[in-house]
Amino acid sequence: MQYFDYRVLAPEDSEAWQELRLEGARDFPSGFLVTYEETAAASGDRCREILGGGSFRGVFNEGKLVGFCGYRPQQLSRTQHRGVIGPFFVTRSYQGSGAAKVLLAGVIEEAKSNSLAQLELFVDTENLRAMAFYERQGFERVATHYDSVRVDGQSRNDHLFTLRL
Ligand SMILES: CC(C)(COP(=O)(O)OP(=O)(O)OC[C@H]1O[C@@H](n2cnc3c(N)ncnc32)[C@H](O)[C@@H]1OP(=O)(O)O)[C@@H](O)C(=O)NCCC(=O)NCCS
Repeated sequence: MQYFDYRVLAPEDSEAWQELRLEGARDFPSGFLVTYEETAAASGDRCREILGGGSFRGVFNEGKLVGFCGYRPQQLSRTQHRGVIGPFFVTRSYQGSGAAKVLLAGVIEEAKSNSLAQLELFVDTENLRAMAFYERQGFERVATHYDSVRVDGQSRNDHLFTLRL
């Protein structure tokens, strides 16, 4: 049985975070909007700056970052009941380990404690593993966003999933 810790990522996590981002963008392109080249172009300073913004969460096993996700509670008064998740990634050797569940559970707890009513995310319509995971955590598919992403000029579609809290 492995134990996982969840916390907000900070600038000091930037090297480990960038390594995971590069793996994800290279090996799981349908899970990311950003390309491998765009990811690789971010300098160390830029990575620290992004994490300084406080909108990424991480899951750790024995102190090692094994997964991360973006989490953005909306700021405007008319949308502040919503939180947007993404990207969401667990390194290949920890997929199926429960780390993804701990990461998502952490975000759900944060959202509940901030009195959000709804979490939202988009998934490529062919990303069956991710959809099975989100549905198991209670998310429901509510819409399809056609031609949402173009990968090497090829049009792709996303499903919008929401979780009512
Ligand atoms: C999506 C992700 C976070 C899920 O975490 P995970 O640890 O792999 O998830 P789990 O293994 O706990 O659950 C996945 C479910 O899909 C099933 N599954 C695995 N491979 C599958 C496939 N090719 N097709 C359909 N279902 C699949 C698993 O059996 C499991 O279901 P079960 O628990 O009912 O048996 C992880 O796979 C990941 O980081 N993927 C790459 C990036 C990505 O796609 N992110 C999502 C972007 S929206």
